[in-house]
Amino acid sequence: MQKTGYYRKSGELFLQNISLKKLANTYGTPTFVYDSNSIKHSFNLLDSIMKPFNGKIHFAVKSNDNLGVIKYINSLGAGADVVSIGELKRCLKVSVKPKDIIFSGVGKQKDEIEFAIIKNIKQLNAESIEELKDIIEISKNLKKKVNVALRVNLDINAKTHKKISTGDENSKFGIIYDDIVSAYKLMKKASFIKPYGLAIHVGSQLFDYDVFYKTFSKIKKLALELRNKGFEVNHLDLGGGFGVDYSLKNLLNYETFNRALNKVFKRDDFQISIEPGRSLIAESGILLTKVIREKSTNLKKFLIVDAAMNNLIRPTLYNARHSIIPLQVKNNRLIKKYDIVGPICETGDFLGIGYSLQQMKKNEFLAIMTCGAYGSVMRSNYNSRPSATEIFIHDDKEILLREREKIDQLIAVDIIPNF
Ligand code: LLP
Repeated sequence: MQKTGYYRKSGELFLQNISLKKLANTYGTPTFVYDSNSIKHSFNLLDSIMKPFNGKIHFAVKSNDNLGVIKYINSLGAGADVVSIGELKRCLKVSVKPKDIIFSGVGKQKDEIEFAIIKNIKQLNAESIEELKDIIEISKNLKKKVNVALRVNLDINAKTHKKISTGDENSKFGIIYDDIVSAYKLMKKASFIKPYGLAIHVGSQLFDYDVFYKTFSKIKKLALELRNKGFEVNHLDLGGGFGVDYSLKNLLNYETFNRALNKVFKRDDFQISIEPGRSLIAESGILLTKVIREKSTNLKKFLIVDAAMNNLIRPTLYNARHSIIPLQVKNNRLIKKYDIVGPICETGDFLGIGYSLQQMKKNEFLAIMTCGAYGSVMRSNYNSRPSATEIFIHDDKEILLREREKIDQLIAVDIIPNF
């Protein structure tokens, strides 16, 4: 527990000065809560690793696109990495400077590329020769220069969950090695493209030193090859993917990344940037949920709670195991083995299978830990369920970041036909 900013006072879970039970009672559940101190801690740690390289951190907005979160992380000194015009507009809305924004993503459309070029963002990462040709044409029509980096695919096995591996040649991401020289030639010829460098991102939830080492060595080798051929390669965007420990056992430390970075890039003149999402925000967040009721069968004990896969899809989508703990510890309770499930009509709607917990009663609260990244942002309205409330805790004060959706709002977007 001490590994995060969350702590207990008389068995009750607190964050900074705030009682989470009180928050749950005031704002209702399900509710996401984020701890500013945890975000700051993670940012500072990474920043100190990047300092010797003059490296720049760009927050991967896909991990949490709440305006308040983007604004806070930007205030710490991070730029942003976006993958859609929507995320780009969110960043601009909270005054992230265009010169601090990288636009990645495999399927950028014409309006998105145009908007990014007009806004003068720092860099577009091209993910294929086909996309590069579109960018060249659009910049020519606009008669406006744009920095373009090539996102490369160097066929690296990231040793992570299949659904979040992006670095091997089976994945849709990046330009393969054989096509890179022709892509660079295209960029060099185009009058409105400034060849900026290379980008890579091999996957998410990475821990392995060898994966970082192989990725960085391969991209550096390629950059040097290109330089030898007379191409300009000044910037290397090394992606994100730094893993966090969902069991809460190990402190976030970026150790393997740091070691590989220093091994490969010490004394180089490349300008390095990174795009972390999860490691900046995951540990800051928890999801508060209320027990609706217990249900027992011959085989199982279920705790049915008011959060569901529409609030947190990670357990069912990636078999992720988030730590789940009571908001109030009661020492006299029996320990029981529960499947913690939501109200959605799917067997896949679970938050945790086989958790040993103190016996829980109706209307008591649980905290699902490490939910700051890829939590609320992956929400849906399945079963006509509104999204959760989001609250930020900063300087011992609670700040409402997103109101709970109202069912009427959900219904209002449908148009009733005149049958
Ligand atoms: N840059 C690019 C190009 C990416 O595709 C991603 C993540 C990142 C940066 C940030 O990676 P991070 O530092 O957050 O690992 N929904 C999944 C994770 C999907 C990651 C997608 N790409 C999950 O909940 O585990």
